[in-house]
Amino acid sequence: METEVIKINSKKIERKVVEKAALFIKKGELVAFPTETVYGLGANAFNARAVRKIFKAKKRPADNPLIVHIGDKETLRKIAREIPEKAVPLMKKFWPGPLTLVFKKTKKIPYVVTGGGETVAVRMPSHPIALELIRKSMCPIAAPSANTSTRPSSTRASHVRDDFDGVIPLILDGGKTNIGVESTVLDLSSLHPTLLRKGEISRTDLEKVIGKIYVHTNKKNGIVKSPGQKYRHYAPKAFLILAQHGEKSVNRALRVYKNKKVFVITFSERKKSYPSAEETHVWGAKGDVVSAAKKFFEIVRECDKKGADVIIVEKILEKGVGEALMDRISRSASKII
Ligand code: TXA
Ligand code: MG
Repeated sequence: METEVIKINSKKIERKVVEKAALFIKKGELVAFPTETVYGLGANAFNARAVRKIFKAKKRPADNPLIVHIGDKETLRKIAREIPEKAVPLMKKFWPGPLTLVFKKTKKIPYVVTGGGETVAVRMPSHPIALELIRKSMCPIAAPSANTSTRPSSTRASHVRDDFDGVIPLILDGGKTNIGVESTVLDLSSLHPTLLRKGEISRTDLEKVIGKIYVHTNKKNGIVKSPGQKYRHYAPKAFLILAQHGEKSVNRALRVYKNKKVFVITFSERKKSYPSAEETHVWGAKGDVVSAAKKFFEIVRECDKKGADVIIVEKILEKGVGEALMDRISRSASKII
């Protein structure tokens, strides 16, 4: 299959391009598109055959459910059987935006979307291209992050192409995504609202609107609520080491892997480069976690392309989106020192 990549300007969206993409969705094909978090790999959420193609393309385990993306709040009624009271102010404040809510599903949503379960994750993205594509397709779009299963998410169309060239017919190239880490996932289908995945919208942000929120840990009772969280995730091909903050800890790791091709990612302002490393990537101004989040997946993908054996990432500050970013870095790490 030939994969076409079409550039599209989110400030001046070419109608014809979106219509072409929407036609693929209507025909039951896959289209990759930008959202404000990361790129998504989309299919008509009501079409089980189309959704199955996503799992095949990504090599995703069938029990890991997908997020359904909607272009207007009314569509939620076709997807969610019940809309709990607490959902209303959350949707008002955070939609469109990087918040995914889990509801009880309707019959219309095929089980392939939900990994066989009775609940469905829904979000209304704020990216204008994503919204336009959903609206023109005239159906909700099921879309996981556009990366091969377990690999780093895609923040550029070129990343999507690296993973899916020849596998999907169309990639809409809307440039670099803005946030760089995936949406916050909050379960509203059970008695207590439970945070399943950290994102730019924090637990505190959510608690300001609906009060106490529980945090899910997969270890509890061995019950896995968010199947995506049980796998090693976001992982580069290289061995990723998460090092404590400070030169000492980075240097220690460098000594251990002195015969390997090592890349360092650091926030340190004093230390612009580590001579024994192949390359040192300085993340930017100290504590600028917003820029770090935008760049993380891109940097690890670049290190892989350059044939890194080892990537040493220095710990970052867990404030704001830094908390979600640290979650992703830890999950992609092979070792924490
Ligand atoms: O920002 C995002 O959320 C991106 C963009 C494309 O929207 N999408 C994304 O999808 O990150 P994905 O499939 O890579 O991650 C979805 C996460 C997984 O951890 C999955 O297990 C969880 O959401 N999830 C989906 N449906 C669920 C459900 N019904 N109950 C619990 N967790 C669910
Ligand atoms: Mg993903």
